[in-house]
Amino acid sequence: MHTPHDPNPHQVRVLAIPGSLRRHSYNRSLLEAAAEVAPSWMPVWVYEDLAEVPLFNEDLEVGGPPSGVQRLHDAVAWADAVLIATPAYNQSVPGVLKNALDWLSRADPPASLSGKPVAVTGVTTGPWGTRIAQTMLRQMLVSMQAVLLPQPMLYVREAGEVFDDAGRLVDPSTRERLGELVEALGMWAMHVPGYNARQRERRMAEAG
Ligand SMILES: Cc1cc2nc3c(=O)[nH]c(=O)nc-3n(C[C@H](O)[C@H](O)[C@H](O)COP(=O)(O)O)c2cc1C
Repeated sequence: MHTPHDPNPHQVRVLAIPGSLRRHSYNRSLLEAAAEVAPSWMPVWVYEDLAEVPLFNEDLEVGGPPSGVQRLHDAVAWADAVLIATPAYNQSVPGVLKNALDWLSRADPPASLSGKPVAVTGVTTGPWGTRIAQTMLRQMLVSMQAVLLPQPMLYVREAGEVFDDAGRLVDPSTRERLGELVEALGMWAMHVPGYNARQRERRMAEAG
């Protein structure tokens, strides 16, 4: 597992956010597989603390964000790019993910998704593979001014066929397409304004 404290500055750091809190979530498993297939220059941090983000309430913004939100802000600020895997709940994005995005929409850069390279994917157990949910997620991200990776799309359907009983992504074709998505996000991130400046800052911080 990669950690958020990897000191190498020549990287595209990816924060991977699963839109499900379920212990055996396929979407989290997909992101764990993304960490496995990612090239070595792309450390992937699969976010585990979405349950700590309270339901959004403007009253809670007074005096600074709650600790669970601050942790999410810190994770987004660490990342050069974000990969979100959403389930489909009633053909849409689960409330837990929408809630986290609403909080992030209130943050300032670098903790917000504004100007941040973002890719989306998702898994369902059914035959439709989160097509509508991902479309809705993309729409939200556009309104948050995220810099969305346009292609490739990855809709993983019938999860029981592509993950084994331990939750490992075992379907070779899905693993390959996931690798293509992750690498495309890395290349995308390097071309989004701000990347080079951040790398320079990181190198200077490293040099002391
Ligand atoms: C409230 C709820 C609504 C769901 N709605 C859909 C749906 O509209 N389409 C679909 O393909 N699957 C639907 N599912 C099934 C989910 O895709 C499936 O449970 C998936 O495994 C959830 O993602 P996770 O494994 O990451 O938790 C729904 C599941 C729940 C709990």
